[in-house]
Amino acid sequence: MNDEIESVLITKEELSERITQLGQQIYDDYIDEPIFALCILRGSFMFFADLVRNIGKPVEVAFLHAASYFEGTESSGHVEIDKHMVDVSGKNLIIIEDIIDSGRTLAALIEHFKELNPNSIKVCTLLDKPERRVVPIDVDYVGFEVPDEFVVGYGLDYDQKYRNLPFIGILKREIYS
Ligand code: IMP
Ligand code: MG
Repeated sequence: MNDEIESVLITKEELSERITQLGQQIYDDYIDEPIFALCILRGSFMFFADLVRNIGKPVEVAFLHAASYFEGTESSGHVEIDKHMVDVSGKNLIIIEDIIDSGRTLAALIEHFKELNPNSIKVCTLLDKPERRVVPIDVDYVGFEVPDEFVVGYGLDYDQKYRNLPFIGILKREIYS
């Protein structure tokens, strides 16, 4: 698996250090408010588990599947959200994503949840690829900005592979071209 990685972009230690800071920042911002953290599956599962452990107060957790359909490494723009029961009404919702690319997935999620009357909505993403944005998104918490490369590991996949790598790496182009 590792020989399919061009280079390590963010090490395990860098991830851990940054996620500790993000957890502290969220704790400080919600000092008097309850938190409802929503994990967008599958890519965010590892980030989510580490992040909530770094928020030093009770956090309600929920999980939702969202899939943006890909042709290779290009998202097709088609986003499907599993709209099962996540009751966000009156909650301080924080949507936790793995990566924002075009912004279409988050735009669809925000539009969906706004109608369900949460008290507030914020967005937290581990990675952001701002160069690729098609739909503008207000992001409240960003772990790292990354270049326009296809990255895998720490939850992120290519064709359902590499999610269990403990770091973020750039995938060799020969794997997908
Ligand atoms: P968006 O809707 O284009 O913003 O795409 C967001 C989704 O595409 C993310 O939640 C990921 O699942 C996937 N994605 C985008 N870029 C990458 C990448 O570099 N590696 C792995 N998945 C990616
Ligand atoms: Mg995803």
